[in-house]
Amino acid sequence: MTDLTTKYLGLTLRTPIVASAGPLTREVDLIRRLVDAGASAIVLPSLFEEEIIHEEVQLDAAVEAGTNRFAESIDYFPNDVFADYENPLDRYISHLEAVRDAVDVPVIASINAASAGAWTKYARLVADAGADAIELNLYHVAADPTRSGHDIENSDAALITQISKSVGIPVAVKISPFYSSLAHTALAFADAGAAGLVCFNRFYQPDLDPDTREVISCVDLSEQWELRLPLRWIAILRPLLPEVSLAATTGISTGRDVAKALLVGADVAMMTSALLRHGPEHIAQVESELQEWATEHEYDSVYQLRGSVSHASTDNPAAFERANYMKILQSYATPSTERS
Ligand SMILES: Cc1cc2nc3c(=O)[nH]c(=O)nc-3n(C[C@H](O)[C@H](O)[C@H](O)COP(=O)(O)O)c2cc1C
Repeated sequence: MTDLTTKYLGLTLRTPIVASAGPLTREVDLIRRLVDAGASAIVLPSLFEEEIIHEEVQLDAAVEAGTNRFAESIDYFPNDVFADYENPLDRYISHLEAVRDAVDVPVIASINAASAGAWTKYARLVADAGADAIELNLYHVAADPTRSGHDIENSDAALITQISKSVGIPVAVKISPFYSSLAHTALAFADAGAAGLVCFNRFYQPDLDPDTREVISCVDLSEQWELRLPLRWIAILRPLLPEVSLAATTGISTGRDVAKALLVGADVAMMTSALLRHGPEHIAQVESELQEWATEHEYDSVYQLRGSVSHASTDNPAAFERANYMKILQSYATPSTERS
């Protein structure tokens, strides 16, 4: 049997299989099922600042609406009418606490704010509520033409420094694959205090209905081939960041997928889509497939196999990638062009 223990963000995990942020980590019962099936850590869905502001604005509007019509109507509200009101922030903290009580694996809170103050405030709150680590969900589409790539990278790095200095727990950053110089950005984020990088945030692409000209928002679950992007980048980043935890997310569905992620240098492999497709119990199957693969290939432990196929042996990853690019294009076998 291969020892599947791994370390992620300084936490010791029983296996490298982690449930990533998504609908299944929104409910305590589903989280229990994930953990019973073998999930070694849980990432909660992101706490979004806009959600909190939206709900507060709606609540204010509801109260204001009454008071405008009847000046005295505020008196209609019993003193304790809002005593039980839980805004999304309170709900998130209650959920985090309930999950901490329900399971004995590390619980990672995820936050996504719009203002620097809110990022830090939420980070402190989830840390105080007992999160074992924080994942910063840095999701932004760089559509502002006045901001350069350098500018965006710098402000993200400053945010990471600010947050990691204000909490006493490890901070991971779920990064985009679209930074203009990803290896440089990854090093800058590690210097800024990121204990781990989650590769990658998956950007949802809206579609367009040409008849109605309406934008269609859709969440498509990932496909296995999408794992190739995190695989390539983790292979490049592993030797550059030997002390930083790396998590692979996107396209992981089987034990062999987890094996690939570990081979290129990931410490953990995260899953959402496969668990939505097959149910939380799918984790048990992924673990037994990983165990079978690792035993068959005679690995004693995850530490032994981790990163053995990274770019560690390549002095110049950029040149290596270019050579491969040419080789791949030239190796394509053109189908017969003869007319039948
Ligand atoms: C319905 C849905 C909701 C998600 N919610 C979040 C979220 O709140 N925060 C976050 O960082 N990622 C979220 N994700 C992204 C997943 O955590 C994961 O990174 C992504 O789905 C790629 O992994 P997969 O191929 O295993 O699905 C969500 C994904 C789905 C499908």
